[in-house]
Amino acid sequence: MATSAHNPSGASAPAELDAEALRRAFGAYPTGVVAIGALRGNEPVGFAASSFVSISLQPPMAAVSVARTSTTWPRLTEAPVLGLSVLSHGQGALCRRLASREVNRFDGVAWQATPDGAVMIEDAALWLTARVSATYDGGDHEIVLMELLTVELFTGVEPLVFHTSQFRELIPHG
Ligand SMILES: Cc1cc2nc3c(=O)[nH]c(=O)nc-3n(C[C@H](O)[C@H](O)[C@H](O)COP(=O)(O)O)c2cc1C
Repeated sequence: MATSAHNPSGASAPAELDAEALRRAFGAYPTGVVAIGALRGNEPVGFAASSFVSISLQPPMAAVSVARTSTTWPRLTEAPVLGLSVLSHGQGALCRRLASREVNRFDGVAWQATPDGAVMIEDAALWLTARVSATYDGGDHEIVLMELLTVELFTGVEPLVFHTSQFRELIPHG
């Protein structure tokens, strides 16, 4: 039986692709988290997303995948411009808040709005603003391609890292 450093006993069979196994598998891939937000009327709406991915430099594009069950996304699609805030290392609790259905997400959260209504989280590591340019079928998610409009990088602010359902911080290697 073949063994490897990852599987010294060689004993475990490949996990089946059921939803729980996949959730754990995807969770083994570390990501950052962005808060996607915009004003609706005068009120901020938004949610946390770890599926943010850079796509293109020219033209500037990024994407997120949004659950078809999301009740917030349909409200955000009416906004002309979305704010994307890459959360910083101390913002794990804030992230959970921005994913909760039990609380008013923005209560106690420091945020500001741009003139075109994008909602930005203060003390984040990076701010982007974006416009939705296309959507694609992504199974039980929708793949949302966005044209990036502005970027503001807060040099030296460490990002929040999400891995195996936990928030973590970067540690310099070596
Ligand atoms: C760390 C983290 C990452 C998340 N990433 C995504 C994501 O990429 N896409 C998504 O649709 N929901 C994601 N969610 C869930 C949403 O934040 C939110 O809980 C979900 O949209 C349900 O709320 P809603 O009905 O208000 O949209 C994530 C939640 C957490 C805590």
